[in-house]
Amino acid sequence: MILPGDDPASIAQAAQALAQGRLVAFPTETVYGLGANAADDAAVARIFAAKGRPADHPLIVHVPGAAQVASFAASVPAFAQRLMDAFWPGPLTLILPRRLGVAGAAAGGQDTIGLRCPAHPVAHALLEAAAHAQPPVPGVAGPSANRFGRVSPTTALHVAGEFDEGLLVLDGGACPVGIESAIVDCSRGGPVLLRPGMLSRAQIEAACGERLRDPADLPGAAPRASGTLESHYAPRARVRLMDAQALQTALDLLGRDATRIATWSRAVLRTPSAGVLRRAMPGDAAEAARQLFAVLRELDAQGVDLIWVETPPAAPEWEGVHDRLRRAAAA
Ligand code: TXA
Ligand code: MG
Repeated sequence: MILPGDDPASIAQAAQALAQGRLVAFPTETVYGLGANAADDAAVARIFAAKGRPADHPLIVHVPGAAQVASFAASVPAFAQRLMDAFWPGPLTLILPRRLGVAGAAAGGQDTIGLRCPAHPVAHALLEAAAHAQPPVPGVAGPSANRFGRVSPTTALHVAGEFDEGLLVLDGGACPVGIESAIVDCSRGGPVLLRPGMLSRAQIEAACGERLRDPADLPGAAPRASGTLESHYAPRARVRLMDAQALQTALDLLGRDATRIATWSRAVLRTPSAGVLRRAMPGDAAEAARQLFAVLRELDAQGVDLIWVETPPAAPEWEGVHDRLRRAAAA
C-alpha cells in the first residue's frame, strides 16, 4: 500500500504502525529504507524475515537528530561528534559503541550500533512522529528496502514491487542521492571507511580532522557489513565493467541481430545491432549516482541478459558509484 509521504495523515498512520511493531518503508535522501522500531526486537525480526537477510547482519538505526544518539550509543568520540556536526542530517552513518542492552536485534549481536540522521523531509517527519507515538519509538532500524543482495530501491514503486501488498510504503518521490550512505566506523580509535557514499574521503577527513583508514588496514576481522560483501547490489542480468574502448570492441564483435544486451556508458557507442539497448551514463557523478539503481532495475525489467557498463572515471567523486558497480559486477 503506497501512501503520499507529504500527507500528515499518512505520516501519523505510519508512525502508529511503527509503534505497534509493524514495518514501514520510507524514503531517505539515499535510498528507501524498510523500517521497524529499533527498540523492539520482535519488530526488527520482521525486517530480517521480509528481506531474507541473515539475522547476524547489523542494521542502521535512523534517528531524528543528534539528541537521540545517547539512547543507542555508549560513547561518542570527539572526531565522531565533529562528523555529526558537519554532515547530519545527511548521507553519513556512524558506527559507535552500543549502549548495553539496547537494540540488540538491530545491531545483529554486535557490540556497536550504526546510527544515521537522514535529511529527507518525509524520513524526518516520520522519525519525529514515531518518537512521539505511544509507545514512543526512539529510533527506526532500517536497511535498504530490497530483498537481500538485490538492487537498492530509489522509488516507492521499486519497494512495493518487492514485498507483500500489505506493506505500508511512504512515497517521497525519487531519492536525490541514489546510493547508500557512507559508513564510518567510529568504534576503533580512529575513523574507518566501511562503505563509500557520495561524501568524499577528503570531505570526511577535513570534517573530522583525522586520516580515514580502510578495513583492510586493521588488525583482526572487521565487522561484517552486508553492503560490503563482494557480491551485492545485483540485478538479474550480469553486469560487466569495461573501459569505453573495450566496450566498443565488444559491440563491434556482436552479430547484427544481437539482442538482450544493454550498455550504460558516457561514451557514445556505435552498435551494429539495433537490438542493443543503450543508456547514457551522466558525466556528472552525482547525477550518475541518482540514476544508477533505477537504470539497473529498468534494464532488468526489459529482460536483458547482459549489462555492459563503462568503468567510471578514477576521480574521488566517483568512488561510491564505482564501488556499487564493482559489486553488481561481482555477482
Ligand atoms: O543510506 C543508507 O544507509 C540506507 C538508508 C535506508 O538509510 N540504509 C542502508 O542499510 O543502506 P543497509 O542495511 O542496506 O546497509 C547498512 C550497512 C550494512 O552493510 C550493515 O552491515 C552495516 O551498515 N552496519 C550496520 N550496523 C553496523 C555495525 N554495528 N557494524 C558494522 N556494520 C554495520
Ligand atoms: Mg542494503
